Amino acid sequence: MMSEKPQGPLVSLNSESLNHHLVSLFGRPAKQTRLEDIGLTLLLLDDDDSSDQFAPEQVDTIWQNMPYWAFVWSSGRALASFVQDHPATVAGKRILDFGAGSGVVGLAALNAGAAEVICCDIDPLSRQACLENARLNQLNLQVVSAIEDAGDFDLLVVGDILYDTRNHGLAHSLFQQQKPLLWAESQAQTKLADQRPVAIYSGETYPNVGGFDEHKQIHIYHHLPV
Ligand SMILES: C[S@@+](CC[C@H](N)C(=O)[O-])C[C@H]1O[C@@H](n2cnc3c(N)ncnc32)[C@H](O)[C@@H]1O
Repeated sequence: MMSEKPQGPLVSLNSESLNHHLVSLFGRPAKQTRLEDIGLTLLLLDDDDSSDQFAPEQVDTIWQNMPYWAFVWSSGRALASFVQDHPATVAGKRILDFGAGSGVVGLAALNAGAAEVICCDIDPLSRQACLENARLNQLNLQVVSAIEDAGDFDLLVVGDILYDTRNHGLAHSLFQQQKPLLWAESQAQTKLADQRPVAIYSGETYPNVGGFDEHKQIHIYHHLPV
């Protein structure tokens, strides 16, 4: 896979390509949305039509092209709350937010005192959204497409990447990093069942288009390498 060096604020920032993708899928653009519970303003899918009715073929197209960055997923939202409730877990650290989506967890970590955040996501639009969301919150972060490009870091934060069984192999490769890990997943996930959660938060995906959330109980794991 092609890899990229961390990209900082020099990347040209505009939300046109982000909006274009959303309009093609949902018929409406992104909106700057303030989530008071986590103290962040994020560019998310506009939630102005809660009565969305999508045809089955449209649902398939949405899932095949899911703009994960346009939502704050329940686990990421719960982990954002956790790091803000427990700032000592991130303060002064260089943090890698893996499967960053909107960058919600990394941004919450910066607000809680992290020294530096690198958001890693395979989706180029997600990396653009992370930079845009950092700008909206007057924060700075870097983005990479692969973990190998992030350089050294002190802590991995991971919110909601086991949603797809094809991602289950990632659990093993993240543990292989031999780094402390803060990881949030829905209670339903069994891949982490041999880990003991340090906290259980309730979390709700926003916008919750079509009722994404089946399990709102989010388990937060703090894994230390042996
Ligand atoms: C459900 S979203 C979670 C986003 C964010 N952490 C949150 O909780 O709101 C999962 C994200 O993982 C990313 N992802 C999936 N596989 C990945 C991989 N192999 N490397 C990096 N990112 C990946 C997807 O592109 C997506 O943005």
